[in-house]
Amino acid sequence: MKIRKAVVLAGGRGTRLYPLTLTTNKHLLPLYNKPVIWYVIDTLVNAGIDRIMLVTNPEHVGDFARVLGSGERWKPRNGKGGQIQITYGIQNKPSGIADGLYIAKDYVNGEPCLLYLGDNYIEDDLRPYIKSFKKGATVFLKKVSDPERFGIATADASGNILAIEEKPRNPKSNLAVVGIYLYDETVFEKMLGQKPSARGEYEITYVNEKYRKEGKLRAEMLKKKWFDIGTFDSLADITHYLKKHSRKEKG
Ligand code: G1P
Repeated sequence: MKIRKAVVLAGGRGTRLYPLTLTTNKHLLPLYNKPVIWYVIDTLVNAGIDRIMLVTNPEHVGDFARVLGSGERWKPRNGKGGQIQITYGIQNKPSGIADGLYIAKDYVNGEPCLLYLGDNYIEDDLRPYIKSFKKGATVFLKKVSDPERFGIATADASGNILAIEEKPRNPKSNLAVVGIYLYDETVFEKMLGQKPSARGEYEITYVNEKYRKEGKLRAEMLKKKWFDIGTFDSLADITHYLKKHSRKEKG
């Protein structure tokens, strides 16, 4: 099933990055030579996505529009011409990932979609996973040393998720759920009836657990680098990494 639409979540208060985030959104901070969000759009366009809704807070939507515009700086990877189109959705309160995705319901309009949390930097090519995606949901996993900070999953040898938990106190594995998800058209109905979690948010793990219960949640292991840009250290680490492995940009 071809996925052409992505929903990028780029809201939040960025409190862990104060005072850097007093004047701007976390996803607009510099990573070596480009804002964080620029890498996200590069990754999506390289994966063959050509329709993107970026969901952010009302205070910063204008800044994103100045940086990304309508997507006119990017060209589709299909070689057939056409345009990349970026549109904007507004999340009035930081009420969680599932809430942010729900804002894009009409935009997604019954198609399968890719959900991308804008503070994730990856180097894997998502194209093969998008190409082979059929039904249900796919999450991407990566080994971490601090599993209590993430959604954590266990999977069987053929990639079926057996358990998924949000920031467990006693993690069953050290496989973190990366902030990139592929969903079929049933994702929005799975959010109905959801109550806010203990941290007052509509969690994406709730939605993923519904897919798991239906036996439709699959795992793929990311093979290359993954950074979750949420702390001063991760911001510094990835900047050093990018300086060392700087990719030459064409435009
Ligand atoms: C979110 C998800 C979590 C996931 C993480 C990846 O956490 O809830 O399951 O592992 O993103 O970046 P948050 O960044 O909201 O704490």
